[in-house]
Amino acid sequence: MNLLKLSDLTKSDIDVLLASAASLKARQKRGIPHQPLKGKTLGLIFEKSSTRTRVSFEVAMQQLGGTAIFISNKDSQMGRGEPIKDTARVMSRYVDGVVIRTFGQDIIEEFARYSAVPVINGLTDGHHPCQALADIMTVVEKKGGYRGMKVCWIGDGNNMANSWLEAAGILGFELRLACPKNYLPDSKILKNAKAANENIHLVKTPQEAAKDADVLNTDVWASMGQEKEATARKKAFKGFTINAKILALANPDAIVLHCLPAHRGEEITDDVIEGANSAVWDEAENRLHIQKAILERLLA
Ligand code: CP
Ligand code: NVA
Repeated sequence: MNLLKLSDLTKSDIDVLLASAASLKARQKRGIPHQPLKGKTLGLIFEKSSTRTRVSFEVAMQQLGGTAIFISNKDSQMGRGEPIKDTARVMSRYVDGVVIRTFGQDIIEEFARYSAVPVINGLTDGHHPCQALADIMTVVEKKGGYRGMKVCWIGDGNNMANSWLEAAGILGFELRLACPKNYLPDSKILKNAKAANENIHLVKTPQEAAKDADVLNTDVWASMGQEKEATARKKAFKGFTINAKILALANPDAIVLHCLPAHRGEEITDDVIEGANSAVWDEAENRLHIQKAILERLLA
């Protein structure tokens, strides 16, 4: 089994992962060792920068009793043009699972077609499923569950927005997205999610999205690979900042999520990310716990 996008999972798969992540977290906090992946090796193939994804997967493997090997594109033969299908078949002979961070979703899909071991998406241009699962784990912890939640997405219709759309389609919570025109989420993902859940709405303004929300969610305006568009995007995204005024429209006990890294003063203000409603540090920590659950499920 692979995890290339959130819609590779069913609602019951996600519920099981959330429960298992919560129990792994509790066990780790109590110092109880749990090492079902003794003797297993995870390969991490990264074509883009990372702090959280790399460290949390490496630590996850260590805590589960296994090992992780990090391979960056620039010092592997992949960076010199070795075909993906060849790399996939070779890596499969050495490791028990692979996490890939790359550009097009087609790249990870091709890798998975040729891989004999499970492949996990550690971020592509189209999806970031591990992050979305950590986010939902955070919602469950802070709000007692995802059912009945009013979630809003303010900003770029990017990989995170796509993964949240898939999550809403599968889990059924309300999702309102406010994105500047020309920066909407993937139209096919939006259409499929809306077909599964009538409580998914594209709205015109961040104010409409934030009204009475339980969860406010955003991400950078220019994702990795879009650095050259940064100036144009800053113009287009004017007004799409989660600031104190937007937060004041949400429920008083709303939580604010951001997958990080954050650009303070662009998609989110310093006072909001540092404020009482911010759950971003727990959200970042939860990457570790949910990924341990994913690794145990796919590799054990
Ligand atoms: N949120 C996230 O994936 O962070 P990194 O880019 O640091 O891995
Ligand atoms: N949307 C961002 C997420 C970074 C974790 C990017 O793709 O760069």
